[in-house]
Amino acid sequence: MKVNDVVTYEVDGPIAVITVNSPPVNALSNAVRQGVAGAVQTAIGDNGVGAMVLICEGRTFFAGADITEFGKPQVEPSLRNLQLIVENATKPVIAAIHGTALGGGLELALVAHYRIAVPSAKCGLPEVNLGLLPGAGGTQRLPRIVGVEKALDLITSGAPVGARAAKEMGLVDELAAEGNLRADAIGFAQRLLDEGRPLLKVRDRSEKLDEARGKPEIFADFRKANAKKFRGFKAPEHIIRCIEAALEKPFDEGMAYERELFNELQADSQSAAQRHVFFAERQAAKIVGLAADTPTLPIAKVGVIGAGTMGGGIAMNFANVGIPVTIVEAKQETLDRGLKIIRGNYETTAKKGRMKPEDVETRMGLLTGSVAMEDLADCDLIIEAVFENLDVKREVFGKLDRIARPGAILATNTSYLDIDDIAAATSRPESVVGLHFFSPANVMKLLEVVRTKDTRPEIIVTAMKLAKTIGKIGVLVGNGFGFVGNRILAARNAQADRLVLEGATPWAVDKVLYDFGFAMGHFQMRDLVGLDVGWNREATSSANVREILNEMGRHGQKTKGGYYDYDENRRQTPSTVAMQVIEDFAAKQGIARRAVSDEEIHDRILFAMVNEGARILDEGIASRASDIDIVWITGYGWPKYRGGPMFWADLQGLPVVLEKLKALEAAHGEAFSSSPLIERLVAEGKGFKDA
Ligand code: 3HC
Ligand code: NAI
Repeated sequence: MKVNDVVTYEVDGPIAVITVNSPPVNALSNAVRQGVAGAVQTAIGDNGVGAMVLICEGRTFFAGADITEFGKPQVEPSLRNLQLIVENATKPVIAAIHGTALGGGLELALVAHYRIAVPSAKCGLPEVNLGLLPGAGGTQRLPRIVGVEKALDLITSGAPVGARAAKEMGLVDELAAEGNLRADAIGFAQRLLDEGRPLLKVRDRSEKLDEARGKPEIFADFRKANAKKFRGFKAPEHIIRCIEAALEKPFDEGMAYERELFNELQADSQSAAQRHVFFAERQAAKIVGLAADTPTLPIAKVGVIGAGTMGGGIAMNFANVGIPVTIVEAKQETLDRGLKIIRGNYETTAKKGRMKPEDVETRMGLLTGSVAMEDLADCDLIIEAVFENLDVKREVFGKLDRIARPGAILATNTSYLDIDDIAAATSRPESVVGLHFFSPANVMKLLEVVRTKDTRPEIIVTAMKLAKTIGKIGVLVGNGFGFVGNRILAARNAQADRLVLEGATPWAVDKVLYDFGFAMGHFQMRDLVGLDVGWNREATSSANVREILNEMGRHGQKTKGGYYDYDENRRQTPSTVAMQVIEDFAAKQGIARRAVSDEEIHDRILFAMVNEGARILDEGIASRASDIDIVWITGYGWPKYRGGPMFWADLQGLPVVLEKLKALEAAHGEAFSSSPLIERLVAEGKGFKDA
């Protein structure tokens, strides 16, 4: 029997089966909640029914509350009212879980009286990733079932656990056979009836809480251990407080407290930002302007040219997913060094327990080193990661053109160079694309896929799909100086350099950015990456502070000195030497140093970045404002809870942004002359999100 469009009700002997089918992820929308409530009530009133199974069709059990309904008026039953109906049912409800029982979905399973899951299922409370806490009893029920320590870990990390681990924790009562969930759940329900098992309610359990009562230091220790990870985010602390309440307050009061803190987070800009990021990540994967049926090309073998900082990491990405890679270097010696570094990376990962020791050899076995580019003849994709020099890259591509098989994808990892110029060295510019990885390339999530004026649609689609295969977030960008990420970085560089000449210290600049939420400051990042990256030794001209520091051998952390000094443990202190260089250089340039406020640092740096982002959008180098946000969050450490530069600007309101830019232009010149896009959007009463 159909209860509504998304829920059906069937009876199998004494067992009622309530099936939900609301693609794509069975989120708990208005229709789903209404349908389930109706079906449970039907089962309660149905005299022939002794127990009920709640199961979902499609790829997953309920993946949580419907995020798209947030902020809209709630239709009854609310999730909490639905939970009351289920928990107070006079007949046992068995949640039958496959796919991912997440957030409100798991919270609904937690009011069922029993849970059964297939081994491949995962359970989790990922609300923290959306700047929220589980608002349907998750913070009160999970500690009662798995204990306080595990609940703290699970809810503040948002990481799901597999069904087997969930069974060990008591979160799941029974494992079903893979592919046989419905029948096994009905069998399980039948057994419960035969054995006359009671209606178990998680809310009534206290044994796990009692264990934690003997360890009052749990919370303080947990806060301390995670201080760095949680810095700036509001949700983790709110979650900890709710779990404390689970221990200290009676169940209903704990629920009321959870509701209060949930509402606080839901109304906060951090959650709005993090929800924006969730959808922005998924938007980024959608390619604008290409036919939906554009075919992808198979990538069975990859070539990488250059085994330096980037090439090694790039190669690892493919070996990690079982794709063989041939790495070509200029000389045997640099090849050996590159391969040794890769092996070292894998060994370290294995030592940390994040990879099986035997996988080190499996992955190394997928990597073949060579000093002959001819060995790339049978590769489907070849990624060039040699020195950042147009002539060198053109030479490599010219040679590659003669070697690579017809149809192979020829990619460059260039940071700033014009890819059309590189492609022009080949007879097949339509086969050339940019794949801009970020350092360390085996770790960083971002991949800018750069389309040139000639890149074939199949290659664009293949590159975006490939990003997903190797666990990256691909963002499609246009071919312009620095693409999206580095171009905005250049705008930040210009302001940061100028600010320290005018009177700010590098540490003041860094502190403003750190307090804003960046993982590290601007000059700290430069010291970490190396001041000499991209520095042309031969053409030194003492043209700026960075060059002078380089000429002095101060290349950053690796030489124990850059803008900061570093001790053996890489602990930093502001460098008086660097400060002197800055002051001398400012004097030589005739810049009178003055007091620069933190507010000025904040505004000049951040609004310059937003303005550059607007230009990038206006020029079509990015297809959407949210793509720019994803680039800066995943590639450059922009704090996730601020949603990226464009979201952050929308939050201030573009009229405010425009006013700031005008004031900055008056004080500091044309670097702040506002992008025409901002002026247009303000005139139309729109934000970047509408651009
Ligand atoms: N609400 C609305 N839409 C959702 C959604 C949700 N909770 N979860 C996923 N979707 C949408 C996605 O936006 C996407 O839409 P699109 O196709 O139009 O782009 C579609 O479902 C498929 O999602 P994915 O591309 O992410 O599919 P995957 O198969 O890769 O992943 C997933 C599936 C693991 C379920 C993943 O989507 C996910 O992690 N979803 C979010 C889960 C979550 O955060 N739940 C908690 C919600 S908050 C809550 O429950 C509050 C409660 O405590 C009161
Ligand atoms: P690197 O100097 O560490 O490595 C370059 C490697 O290429 C060297 O090992 C060199 O021996 C090799 N090489 C040079 N010419 C070659 C040739 N003709 N054939 C084969 N091998 C050759 O440089 P890095 O940092 O890895 O940069 C490589 C590219 O990646 C550059 O275009 C750079 O702009 C880009 N990039 C660098 C990032 C970084 O943070 N280091 C980030 C993103 C992109």
